[in-house]
Amino acid sequence: MNNVERYMQLQKLGLKLNMQRGLPSPANLDLVNPIFEQIDADDTLLDDGTDLRNYGGGVFGLAEARAYFASVLEVEPAQVLVGNNASLELQGHALTWALLKGVKDKPWLGQNPKIIVTIPGYDRHFHLLQTLGYDLQTVEMTPDGPDMGAVEKLASADESIKGILFVPTYSNPTGDTLSESNAQRLASMKAAAHDFTIFADDAYRVHHLFEPHHKPANILKACQTAGNPDRAFVFASTSKITLAGAGLGYLASSEANLKRFGQFLGAQTIGPNKLEQLRHVRFLKSYSGGLEGLMKDHAAIIAPKFEAVLETLEKELSGTGLATWSNPKGGYFISLDTQKPIADKVVQLAKEAGVSLTPAGATYPDGNDPHNSNIRLAPTYPPVSEVKQAMEIVALCIKLASEDSN
Ligand SMILES: Cc1ncc(COP(=O)(O)O)c(C=O)c1O
Repeated sequence: MNNVERYMQLQKLGLKLNMQRGLPSPANLDLVNPIFEQIDADDTLLDDGTDLRNYGGGVFGLAEARAYFASVLEVEPAQVLVGNNASLELQGHALTWALLKGVKDKPWLGQNPKIIVTIPGYDRHFHLLQTLGYDLQTVEMTPDGPDMGAVEKLASADESIKGILFVPTYSNPTGDTLSESNAQRLASMKAAAHDFTIFADDAYRVHHLFEPHHKPANILKACQTAGNPDRAFVFASTSKITLAGAGLGYLASSEANLKRFGQFLGAQTIGPNKLEQLRHVRFLKSYSGGLEGLMKDHAAIIAPKFEAVLETLEKELSGTGLATWSNPKGGYFISLDTQKPIADKVVQLAKEAGVSLTPAGATYPDGNDPHNSNIRLAPTYPPVSEVKQAMEIVALCIKLASEDSN
């Protein structure tokens, strides 16, 4: 059977396979079910008199939660704000605050502010920044983080380049991780803007899948050491640790930044959901092996899916020269690049055979991949057998689309 015949046969199966968005699978979520047993009415009064059922406690979050997530980020509790269910929302608040109040003194609004983003990157970052009116400047993601030569050139030349937003650990979609030396370069580089700010979305900081585990750089510490203590904000959440959309988002920065940002946030909320924060901290502390134990159990479910993607790509495409792909040691995604400008065609062919993939171009601002080559693969949700079948179809679509474009 040739490739076209095989494809037509697959089309007839009426498959419905989804490799589009990075969702935890039901098996991952099941690991977290004990969270529902962590608190009841007897637990709502804390030793210090705080009644979790009532207002009070302020915008920075429950002390236990701040201390817990400070240890995850390796910073001081006073540097941490724990919010509600989404780190993306906190990123939005921080970027809005920068526009309206400025991260140091002068509001960015009216200064034609630009933010550096990495490509390929996370579509929701692009969308958030553009929705708020920021212009984007792109730099390539490299195995060691953002292309620092390009970042330094841009940031040193233009005062309206106000910062960088990127994923430092197991990046979405490439799985690349910021090296310690690039963290130091970011922390210490000369920027034309006196208030240049690093917005690091550390969504996958603890999401190790394979050895060697990457040790995430401590960006805030690097900034302190470099004499730029107010340069960075680090964001993270438990969306891919506990419950997606029902976890906890948090951020860390210098105490001075946090104080000013807290005033801005405090105008919009009396405080976050403290009950959820207590429930989370209790669950994470009580899980066998703690956070590390939970992430190991998540990895035991997710790693075979990554292996299924990589093994299928290797089997079907290695040596053909038709595509290259990333080989992440953690995170939620694998990034694939076709040799020819056919990503849109591959995604369309896959869709017609019952496999939904992230739209081609989504990893670039405005959905515009100049090489029409990058496809983000999100294998975490479907069972291994479906991941394998989906990837066989994707590989076949790459072969077909490559033949067509000859
Ligand atoms: C890099 C990155 N940041 C943030 C998020 C969303 O996180 P949250 O649920 O905390 O808003 C995602 C979700 O896929 C992500 O991949």
